[in-house]
Amino acid sequence: MNALTIHSLNKSYVPGVPVLKDLDFELAKGEVHALVGSNGAGKSTLAKILTGLISPNSGKISFREGVSENVVMVLQELNIIPTLTVAENLYINSLPGKFGIIKSAELLNRAKKALNKVGLAGIDPAMAAGKLGVGQQQLIEIAAALEKKSSVLILDEPTAALTGPEIELLFDNIRALRKKDVAILYISHRMDEIAEICDRVTVIRDGRRIATHKVAEVETPQLIREMAGSEVAAFSSAKQNKRTVEPGLTVKDLHAGEAVKGVSFQANRGEILGIAGLIGSGRTETLRAIFGADPRSSGEMYRGNQQTAFSPANPGEAVAAGVALVPEDRKLDGLLLPLSITANTVIASNRKFVVNETADEAATEKVCRQLAVKCDSLSQAISDLSGGNQQKIVIARWLLCDCEIFLFDEPTRGVDVAAKGAIYTLLQQLADEGKTIVVVSSDLTELMAISHRIIVMSNGRITGEFGPDEWTRENITAAAFAGYDSTERSAA
Ligand SMILES: Nc1ncnc2c1ncn2[C@@H]1O[C@H](COP(=O)(O)OP(=O)(O)OP(=O)(O)O)[C@@H](O)[C@H]1O
Ligand SMILES: [Mg+2]
Repeated sequence: MNALTIHSLNKSYVPGVPVLKDLDFELAKGEVHALVGSNGAGKSTLAKILTGLISPNSGKISFREGVSENVVMVLQELNIIPTLTVAENLYINSLPGKFGIIKSAELLNRAKKALNKVGLAGIDPAMAAGKLGVGQQQLIEIAAALEKKSSVLILDEPTAALTGPEIELLFDNIRALRKKDVAILYISHRMDEIAEICDRVTVIRDGRRIATHKVAEVETPQLIREMAGSEVAAFSSAKQNKRTVEPGLTVKDLHAGEAVKGVSFQANRGEILGIAGLIGSGRTETLRAIFGADPRSSGEMYRGNQQTAFSPANPGEAVAAGVALVPEDRKLDGLLLPLSITANTVIASNRKFVVNETADEAATEKVCRQLAVKCDSLSQAISDLSGGNQQKIVIARWLLCDCEIFLFDEPTRGVDVAAKGAIYTLLQQLADEGKTIVVVSSDLTELMAISHRIIVMSNGRITGEFGPDEWTRENITAAAFAGYDSTERSAA
């Protein structure tokens, strides 16, 4: 029985530029239906139309009785209100209470239970939500959606910032909803998740439906071909042991805020050093402290073979010293949303807001082509790009910079399979040029594919280091938990 049926849906944001084309789609009760497609294919657009956030130009959507009022969506971009508490964010549209009086004890109690469900038992519901990292904010948005009674639940890339154990918990919640006959639309670029949790999968390309399959009857390579419309070159990692080990970045006993509690490591020139860990383990905070984006309380850092410490007071000083950070939250630190693609791409290398039309457009065009950015023109405002294409611009910006040390925080968050491969190749090229690359990623498959060495962070410290012959999913995960005692563990 279908929860909803879509017939011949069309949508253009800009007249003459269709984004969805004669799209037919069905979502059944009690199924988890994956929606896959390249960046800019139209997935989020379809999801927002179903939720009523935007309207189509034409087409018909029929909901089963009572369903249309109960469509709940977790948006791709984070929408936490940073100054409100965690509890207020959870119940923003349905604060408990009568006659305008919020019962705060009841609110906090309910919030505790809701947080527990997504593995955030250690978070105080009365704290300001803005203090949490991206992964934790994402879990709060998921918890908020789970708290609402839904007939249709739409999850737009819910796991892009989550690591293994948090994803498993989300899947438990999804399975429970499926049993209750909720229809779930699941948008993701992580193919292994689709095999694990979804019943059917629909591929869209350039706004058209290409195919719908039973997940059990289709293999990933076929899905990737259908998404891309052609063969996608597989990424082959060129891992080799360097003959000489030259230090690129040395960090000694770094302390910063509450999240970084004595971190020491060396990343070598020509090496891609992966950092694994659970969300909240201090990975992002470590990169930010190195970059001068957050204050450091103690510790020393050295570039290359230099004997004098390097100690940037702010990101500007870090960039001047040849260190780049590609941040985790593109909306917050990354992109200047009203400005053009070109302005956003060249801002770090120009270090000013002025765009030199010809030279900058040429440079921008080149990287955008390498990463297959889908856009109408380079003068288009970046806010109009799909999530994955915005992420590609954040990366392109730093690739244009003449830096020696690159810190990447979740570089492929929300990026499609083909562009992921292009980004991996570019990281490998940087390493081959002798640059030092540090990559934080919540995707272990990715880290194991691209890294020459992986260190694991847990509770603000390094708890493991593995070479390619040593690492396994199991020993990395064990190290990721090693820094917590059993009471703290549920907070991680
Ligand atoms: N507000 C907007 N104005 C103009 N064009 C837009 C707007 N929002 C999206 N688009 C365009 O619509 C197309 C589809 O975008 P959409 O966000 O639906 O893609 P997506 O499949 O969700 O991609 P991703 O995997 O990157 O999230 C893209 O080409 C995008 O540039
Ligand atoms: Mg999207």
